[in-house]
Amino acid sequence: MTRKLFVTTALPYANANFHIGHIMEYTQADIWVRFQRMQGQEVHFVGADDAHGAPIMIAAEKAGKTPQQFVADIAAGRKQYLDGFHISFDNWHSTDGAENHELSKEIYRALRANELISVKTIEQFFDPQKSMFLPDRFIKGECPKCGAKDQYGDSCEVCGAVYTPTELKNPFSVLTGATPVMKSSEHYFFKLSDPRCVAFLEQWTQTPGRLQSEVLNKIKEWFTKDEHGQGGLGDWDISRDAPYFGIEIPDAPGKYFYVWLDAPIGYLASLKNYFGKLGRDFDAFMADETVEQIHFIGKDITYFHTLFWPAMLHFSGKHSTDGTYVPRKTPNHVYVHGFLTVNGGEKMSKSRGTGLDPLKYLSLGMNAEWLRYYLAAKLNSKVEDLDFNPEDFVARVNSDLVGKYINIASRAAGFLAKRFEGRLSADVGVEGQALLDGLRAHGAAIAELYETREFGKALREVMLLADRVNEYVDQNKPWELAKLEGKDQVLQDVCSVCIEAFRVLSVYLKPVLPALVAKVESFLKVAPLQFADAQHALGAHQIGAYEHLMQRVDPKLLDALFEPPAAPKVVPGGEDLAPEIKIDDFAKVDLRIAKILKAEAVEGSDKLLRLTLDVGEGKTRNVFSGIKSAYKPEDLEGKLTVMVANLAPRKMKFGLSEGMVLAASHADEKAHPGIFVLEPFLGAQPGMRVR
Ligand code: 2FM
Ligand code: ZN
Repeated sequence: MTRKLFVTTALPYANANFHIGHIMEYTQADIWVRFQRMQGQEVHFVGADDAHGAPIMIAAEKAGKTPQQFVADIAAGRKQYLDGFHISFDNWHSTDGAENHELSKEIYRALRANELISVKTIEQFFDPQKSMFLPDRFIKGECPKCGAKDQYGDSCEVCGAVYTPTELKNPFSVLTGATPVMKSSEHYFFKLSDPRCVAFLEQWTQTPGRLQSEVLNKIKEWFTKDEHGQGGLGDWDISRDAPYFGIEIPDAPGKYFYVWLDAPIGYLASLKNYFGKLGRDFDAFMADETVEQIHFIGKDITYFHTLFWPAMLHFSGKHSTDGTYVPRKTPNHVYVHGFLTVNGGEKMSKSRGTGLDPLKYLSLGMNAEWLRYYLAAKLNSKVEDLDFNPEDFVARVNSDLVGKYINIASRAAGFLAKRFEGRLSADVGVEGQALLDGLRAHGAAIAELYETREFGKALREVMLLADRVNEYVDQNKPWELAKLEGKDQVLQDVCSVCIEAFRVLSVYLKPVLPALVAKVESFLKVAPLQFADAQHALGAHQIGAYEHLMQRVDPKLLDALFEPPAAPKVVPGGEDLAPEIKIDDFAKVDLRIAKILKAEAVEGSDKLLRLTLDVGEGKTRNVFSGIKSAYKPEDLEGKLTVMVANLAPRKMKFGLSEGMVLAASHADEKAHPGIFVLEPFLGAQPGMRVR
C-alpha cells in the first residue's frame, strides 16, 4: 500500500537568514523524504516562515518596515538556500497567510467550546514610554545574584543565575531605556493541566514507536510533580496584548495569539495552501486515518511539539452528525535531532569566525552535496549533537565519496566508451554476477536504515559495498585487459559489472546526493532511479559519455570558509588627510545608525561612558566610548548617532566593546578641547547603513 506522508521541518523565525543548523535539519528531513519518494510513497513536504511575535515586530519597526514587509523580505531570501542545498519542499508558506489566520481561530474556538480555555489576570513588566508589555528578553538590568550589569530578564550571562524579570535590580526596557512598571492584564490560557489533557498526553506520548526513547524520558520528567505537588503540566499562556504582530483572538479585542500557538498550526496552513494550488481537498486528506503526519524538529522545541501541539489538535476536533467526537489528526511521529556545533563544539559565532555560513559555503563554489553527504554520514536517529569538523569533512568527501564511489565509474566508463560504444554486456559472467547479487542483497537493509533515519549507518553500508567493487576492479585490472589481445569480451564484462555496480550504489545514495545522481542518470541514459531499480539489471544497454561527476574538496576551501571576516581599518581623524582610499575600502567600514538606549558612567574610568546601543539587530550592543568629559549620560539617552558596526569586538578592562561611536575632535585636544558625537538628520532609523 502506498503510504501517505505529510512531513514538515520546524518553521524558522522570519527575522534572520538560515544558519547552518537550519540547513542540517532540512537536509535530514529532505533525505528521508527523497527516500520515501523513491519508494513510491505519496509525500507532501512543506515548510513556512514563522512570521509572528514581538521580536519580529520590533525588528521590523527598527528596520523602518511594516512587519509584513519585513517578513516578506526575509522570505525572499529563502530560495537561494533551499535550491542551493537541494532541499525539496513541495511548498513554502507563511504563518501570516490567510489559511493560518483561519485555522488558528478555528482551532481556538473548538478548544474553547471544549472548555479548555481559561482567563486569568496576570502582572507583567510594561514599558510606559512604548505602551507595551515587555517580553523577558526586552528587559535588562543588574543581576540579582552577582550584580553584573546589563543582564537579560531571564538569566545572567556572568554568573549563570536564572530568575524572573521582576527580580532584576534597576531594570530598564531595552526598547526605550525607560524603567518598566508592573501592570496587570487578562491573559488567555490553554488548560493543559485539565485531567483530559493529562490523560490524553500520557497515552499519546507513550504510544510505542511514536517518539524516540530519549524524548520520552524527558517528557516523563515534565509530567512528574515533586513532593510539594509542584511541576507537572501547567496551563499555557496563549495570549499577548496589543501591540503585537500576530493573529487576533476571536471575541477578545486587543488580544493576540502568542506566536507559539499559531506557529505549529502553520504546518497545516502550508499544506492547505499547497492543496489549494493542487486543487486537492485538504480536509479530506487530514481526516484520512492512513495519512501519517511527521515533524522533524530540534531538541529545544520538544515541549511545544510533544505536549501543546498534540493536545491542541486532539481537543479541537468536531462532533459528527451522530454526536460522536472526532478528534483532529495528531502527529504520528515527532523526530527530534540535536544541535550542530562547529569545530569541536565551539558556539557558533560570526565574529570569532567559527560559524559555518551556508551562503558563504555556496559562494566559495563548494559543492552542496559534499555537505549533504557529510551531514548524512554523521546523522542517526538519536537526539545527539553533531559536530562539523573540517578535517573529517575533507577526509569523508575525498576518501569515501569521491575515492570509493565516484572512482568506480571513472575507472570503467572510459574503456566502454572508447572500445565498445558504451555498450554493456548482457551477461557478465559468474564472478561479476555474484558481486552484483551481493550488492542487491543489501538493498532492503539500506532501505530500512533510511526509513529509521540511521543515515550514517546507511552510508557506511554503501561504502563497504563500494570497497567490494573496488576490490573487484583491482583483481580484474581492466587497464591490463585493455592491453591484451583477445580479451575484449572480458574487458567489456568487467567494465559492465563496474557500471552496473555503480548504478546500484547510485540508487542507494540518491536520497543524499540527488543532483549528482541526476547527472549519473543522464550519463547512464536511464530514467530517474527508484529504490527498486537496484534489484533489476540494466542488461544490454548503451550508456552515454562519462563526464567528470564530482571534484575532490580542496582543503584550502575550508580555511577560506572559516576565515573570520577581515577586520576593517578605521580611517583615523586628524589634521593631515589620510592616504587616499578606493570606494571599496570605504565600503569595508559598515557605519550604522545607532540609538543610544542607555548611557552610564564606568566605575574606575574618568574617560569612558558605557553605551547600550540599538543597531536594529533585535539585540543591543555594548560600546565603551571616550566621551565622558563631553557629555552627561542622561543627555545622550534616546539620541541617535553613527557607529562603526563591523569593528572587531575589543576586550577592555571593563568588558567587551562591540563597535565604536563616531565623534569629531581637534587633533590638538589640549588647545582645542571638545568632543562632538555625530547625530543624523531627522528620520534616520537604528540599523540604517551610512554610506
Ligand atoms: O524555534 C523556532 O525557530 C520556531 N520558529 C519554531 C517553530 S516550529 C513550528 F511550531 F512552527
Ligand atoms: Zn549574575
